[in-house]
Amino acid sequence: MTKETVEELRRTSIASIEAADSLDQLDSIRRGIVGKKGSVTQLLKGMGSAAPELRKELGSLINELKKELEQLAESRREQLARAAMDERLAEEWIDISLPVGAKPALAGRGGIHPLTRVQRELEHIFRGLGFTVVDGPEVETDYCNFEALNIPDTHPARDMQDTFFTTCGHLLRTHTSSIQVRSLQRLSPPLRIVAPGRCFRYERLDASHEHTFYQMEGMMIDRDVNVGHLIYFMRTLLREIFGSEQKIRLRPGYFPFVEPGFELDIWFQGRWLELLPCGLVHPKVLEFGGIDPKEWNGFAFGLGLSRLVMSRFQIDDIRHLQSGDLRFARQFR
Ligand code: DAH
Repeated sequence: MTKETVEELRRTSIASIEAADSLDQLDSIRRGIVGKKGSVTQLLKGMGSAAPELRKELGSLINELKKELEQLAESRREQLARAAMDERLAEEWIDISLPVGAKPALAGRGGIHPLTRVQRELEHIFRGLGFTVVDGPEVETDYCNFEALNIPDTHPARDMQDTFFTTCGHLLRTHTSSIQVRSLQRLSPPLRIVAPGRCFRYERLDASHEHTFYQMEGMMIDRDVNVGHLIYFMRTLLREIFGSEQKIRLRPGYFPFVEPGFELDIWFQGRWLELLPCGLVHPKVLEFGGIDPKEWNGFAFGLGLSRLVMSRFQIDDIRHLQSGDLRFARQFR
């Protein structure tokens, strides 16, 4: 063994470390040089074969070489790691400053849909009158949508509320009145609830009929409730919505779940507008809900939310409301 042997090993080792082009490759090259069985380690072990007067010098040369090669391998490792990270960043880069939405034309500030806006306003008004806002399912049982509202299987009122049925006998609710039943079952009197929600009917579609529309049901159960209470609450509601006292009239109306039943109309833009069917809760409905009609009674109403929104914003076709057409929706931002 001579100085040349060491120098030769130095040159070949440096070349192979610099040639490594992946971290894995570098690692095995490094082990092949300075690992337990690596070439430099072997050289150290083979010192015995060197001329005795050279041993000391060769020993320190080899040790220095080892250090040098370890440092070189480390800096090559850093280089390769940085390159791998740069490559990953380039591949996985996401421009988080891009606007949401596929087309920049669709971006921009959103707005509250007029239906939601009016619904929230009404909820606010009713909360102020001591009502709780409750919810119910859109897929209903026949019992809650019809039966417990005093509309038995054979009742002609069912004809006016044809709807979509599931194969297991449930249906898409035709009105929010089903939530009256659910509230009577769940809560105990005295109670005041309003229940906004989406309803569905099998309809011939035109400017005022849509298969999907919104209502807001209301119900108050207490002792000795009479039509005067009903009128008081409805007047207050309309004053809040329209901002001033409204001219109203009550006509008799028939709904199997109220007795007496009314149509409440308001005088709007020179004509009577049918807005609020209502009445005193039928004793049978209370009984179905497990409440004693001798002790409790109340009123109920079904506000046509879609219709109210239409008159409020002068929308001439109910089908605009759920068209998803941005040209329509943007007008209410
Ligand atoms: N659920 C009825 C409908 O959709 C409306 C209605 C009428 C609701 C009278 C009521 C009510 O609460 O008292 O046609």
